[in-house]
Amino acid sequence: MSHPRHIAIIMDGNGRWAKKRMIPRTVGHVKGAATVRKVVQACVRAGVSHLSVFAFSTENWRRPPEEVRKLMDLIVQYLQKELRDLQESGIRLRVIGDRASLGPELCGWIERVEQVTQNNDRFHLTVAVNYGGQWDILQAMRRWQAERPDQCLDDLGPADLSAYLSTADLPDPDLLIRTGGEARVSNFMLWQMAYTEMFFTDVLWPDFSEAHLQKALHWYGQRVRRFGRTDEQVAAEMPAMAQRKA
Ligand code: IPE
Ligand code: IPE
Ligand code: MG
Repeated sequence: MSHPRHIAIIMDGNGRWAKKRMIPRTVGHVKGAATVRKVVQACVRAGVSHLSVFAFSTENWRRPPEEVRKLMDLIVQYLQKELRDLQESGIRLRVIGDRASLGPELCGWIERVEQVTQNNDRFHLTVAVNYGGQWDILQAMRRWQAERPDQCLDDLGPADLSAYLSTADLPDPDLLIRTGGEARVSNFMLWQMAYTEMFFTDVLWPDFSEAHLQKALHWYGQRVRRFGRTDEQVAAEMPAMAQRKA
């Protein structure tokens, strides 16, 4: 059974988790942050090497200001609390997204954690903060062009653009998990997910557990990734798959 190298997660459902309990939405976010910690550990145990989590989208600024503030505070707290464990576990943390509108405290912590963990390579955790797939594609095109004022966009190919995305150092996600029951990508890694397998579950993010992760991994193992080719072509290249299909 094949295994994803890179899992991307849209952590959705914190608000509904809280609403069901008649407690403030922000309590759902606190519980959601604790789930991130557990899922990182579960991914390490499962032999996955890369995990990317969507923490705050470019559209989430539309939420009530108190909720936005709480989410930003929680991200700062996560970085502060986890730094030591990340370091001890050999985890490299990266933050992707537009930092221009993030506060100085958050930016300071992002820089600190990225710098301290930069030589770790046991596991790669990427946190998307003020991230949007559309933003990522545009900033990549702009940077590519800025470095080549004499070239025109006709010269820009997919690999050139990938090299300027905020995920340039990472493999594309093999598996996307979205909790919370919606089947949409909500502007996550649009370019990078061209061939990602997508697993949607009704489980609300604060309830997401190692057993749910295992279920997603099992589901992923059943997928045939054709990348545009036929089943027969794929089977010819992978004897194990040919056996399974027989
Ligand atoms: C996900 O949970 C967290 C963020 C988007 C930051 P939500 O807050 O979107 O939870 P629901 O969708 O309202 O239940
Ligand atoms: C997606 O969740 C963004 C994050 C998980 C950070 P949303 O709850 O913001 O998505 P929509 O608005 O329902 O699509
Ligand atoms: Mg939501």
